[in-house]
Amino acid sequence: MRSVLLLALAPLVAFALPAPSSGARRVHERRTSVPSAWVPVAEPYPATPIPLRIALTQANIDKAHDELMRVSDPSSPHFGKHWSAKEVAEFFAPSKESVDTVMAWLENEGISRSRVKQSQSLGWIEVSGVTVSEAESLLDTKYTVYTHEATGTPHLGCGEYSVPEEVSKHIDFVTPTVHFDTRAKREQPMRKREAATEIGKPGSGSLPKQGATLSLESIIQELEYCNEEILPICLQALYHIPANQSYATAKNSYGIVEYTPQSYLPTDLDMFFGQFAPQLVGHRPTMDSIDGGNIQTEYESFDYNGESDLDLQYAMTLVYPLNPTLYQTGDMVEGGSFNNFLDALDASYCTYDGGDDPTQDGIYPDPYGGGYEGPETCGGYAATYVVSTSYGYNEADLTPFYEERQCSEYAKLGLQGVSILYSSGDYGVAGNDGECLTSTGAYSVNGTVFNPSFPGTCPYVTSVGATQIVPNATVFEPEEACETVIYSGGGFSNVFPMPSYQAEAVRTYYEYFPPPYTAAQYNNSRTVRGFPDVAANGANYVIAIDGQFALVYGTSASSPVFGSIITLVNDARLAAGKGPIGFLNPSLYANPYMFNDITLGSNQGCGTEGFYAVPGWDPVTGLGTPDYLKMVAYYLALP
Ligand SMILES: *[C@@H]1O[C@H](CO)[C@@H](O)[C@H](O)[C@H]1NC(C)=O
Ligand SMILES: *[C@@H]1O[C@H](CO)[C@@H](O)[C@H](O)[C@H]1NC(C)=O
Ligand SMILES: *[C@@H]1O[C@H](CO)[C@@H](O)[C@H](O)[C@H]1NC(C)=O
Ligand SMILES: *[C@@H]1O[C@H](CO)[C@@H](O)[C@H](O)[C@H]1NC(C)=O
Repeated sequence: MRSVLLLALAPLVAFALPAPSSGARRVHERRTSVPSAWVPVAEPYPATPIPLRIALTQANIDKAHDELMRVSDPSSPHFGKHWSAKEVAEFFAPSKESVDTVMAWLENEGISRSRVKQSQSLGWIEVSGVTVSEAESLLDTKYTVYTHEATGTPHLGCGEYSVPEEVSKHIDFVTPTVHFDTRAKREQPMRKREAATEIGKPGSGSLPKQGATLSLESIIQELEYCNEEILPICLQALYHIPANQSYATAKNSYGIVEYTPQSYLPTDLDMFFGQFAPQLVGHRPTMDSIDGGNIQTEYESFDYNGESDLDLQYAMTLVYPLNPTLYQTGDMVEGGSFNNFLDALDASYCTYDGGDDPTQDGIYPDPYGGGYEGPETCGGYAATYVVSTSYGYNEADLTPFYEERQCSEYAKLGLQGVSILYSSGDYGVAGNDGECLTSTGAYSVNGTVFNPSFPGTCPYVTSVGATQIVPNATVFEPEEACETVIYSGGGFSNVFPMPSYQAEAVRTYYEYFPPPYTAAQYNNSRTVRGFPDVAANGANYVIAIDGQFALVYGTSASSPVFGSIITLVNDARLAAGKGPIGFLNPSLYANPYMFNDITLGSNQGCGTEGFYAVPGWDPVTGLGTPDYLKMVAYYLALP
């Protein structure tokens, strides 16, 4: 609403007559209160122009699940027949009926066709040259100019608006109206759960945990020491990952997402490569900068570099000679969120269903100065075939609307052949920082209700939990659930229903190993999404961090390792003239033999021992840890 800055203001009058109404209208949206700190100051002059935009309802979103299963279920004749970005955009674009209905309404109201156009993303109708009085008549409303108490930021809005009955079902909403899509400047200190855009900031509960620092002499590159220190050779042995095994380097890449201020230190990469992957010294990931994302070197500490150093040191080594793509998201001031990342891959997502949420997502250009002043990144970057993200929220941090909107976008990426992986969290059945909920869903230090993570509970992502080598055991023996420093995030969703691909695995789990908890701890209805889907080692990783070697822990390590394996499997398929696997879960659950089943350990939290790892799928380690050789053989045999 920057244009409001230019508005001439008339004094606020207490009583204003509603604009004349025409036809049978219904209230489309109403707000019951004005967000705190916004004050009505004036009414705008009737002749003031405003940028009127009408968001159309998406078509076919209810069909996304079935369409995704058609291309991802290995028993489907359509397996692997992924869609192009254009096909996805067209399938979910508003129907012709919606467009025609809205066009006819506008024409009826005296707005000529020449002033109306459909956005390139197909989701919006934009009307040019609309004045305040014209909009008030069209929407049967009255506009007010508000300003923000602290910052003086102006905003044009109304309390409610109406559209004809027959138009209502074809539109999501109209702007500017009841939405305060202008973010007020941050107050310090920010309350954590309001600050979801702080996802990469120090203290964010999803970052890896630091252990002891190590002298170089104490690091022994022999498999018999893997129970104390994980190095790339340990993972290659555990999961049968061949070294230097990439073929299709030009067609393939591997996406790692990082959220500024997290960033890697080039000197740390070279320090790690120098010891453990000399061929990579001097190599850097391909950089896709989103919303001003850059490799900041202003702040250096484990809190700023730990996640990125870990993700890139292991991903780059495991997929060598393939070079990963780094999606560095957000600037130092506004930060970024998963929505900001998704916007960069799909321009239509920037606005679909209301677009980003200014209370959660980074808003660009930075409205307050000091941050990235360029335009928001909307589209323009290709999705790599595998994308791993080691950051996460708790479901309880966000609204179901926000989560479902984002989850649908993961389904659309799956339709295009992209595998999306998220770490499952490091606090067992508790949420980030070990927080639990009360029976009403609120946070409390005394909460005893489990607190599942998001996006791991979205049925269209692959959630990765953590394991460890059994103390004093070798890489040739089965691992157990991680219980060193961190506990593998797992449990059941409070938002998403159980997807069909998981039904049999979860049914078997409940039948043979019913957990000793009730509805007082978690949704035990046996009808909701269970997570994680899979696991990989998450304990005792050696990384180079701020010029030293140190141990780190977390599902933050597990996700990039699992993603590296899928990237190599894709690479073998590409070299054989096949396509990428795309959405993984249906084929993973259909072939549990490709995993090392984990049957020891648990994921404590919220005053309980959590769930137990048991034979078959469990809400601690999912199906288990991967075996690359079994996977590559299976997926190469698929069309
Ligand atoms: C991988 O290749 C590099 C050089 O290209 C070599 O130095 C290294 O030893 C190889 N690693 C293995 C395990 O073969
Ligand atoms: C948590 O429990 C302790 C001990 O019973 C009590 O003193 C405290 O007030 C409780 N805190 C909250 C926020 O309920
Ligand atoms: C592992 O082996 C060491 C040395 O033999 C021993 O001191 C330690 O107790 C063992 N730890 C476990 C968990 O068995
Ligand atoms: C559990 O999930 C089911 C399905 O979404 C829902 O109907 C039920 O109300 C949930 N139970 C609780 C206790 O929230």
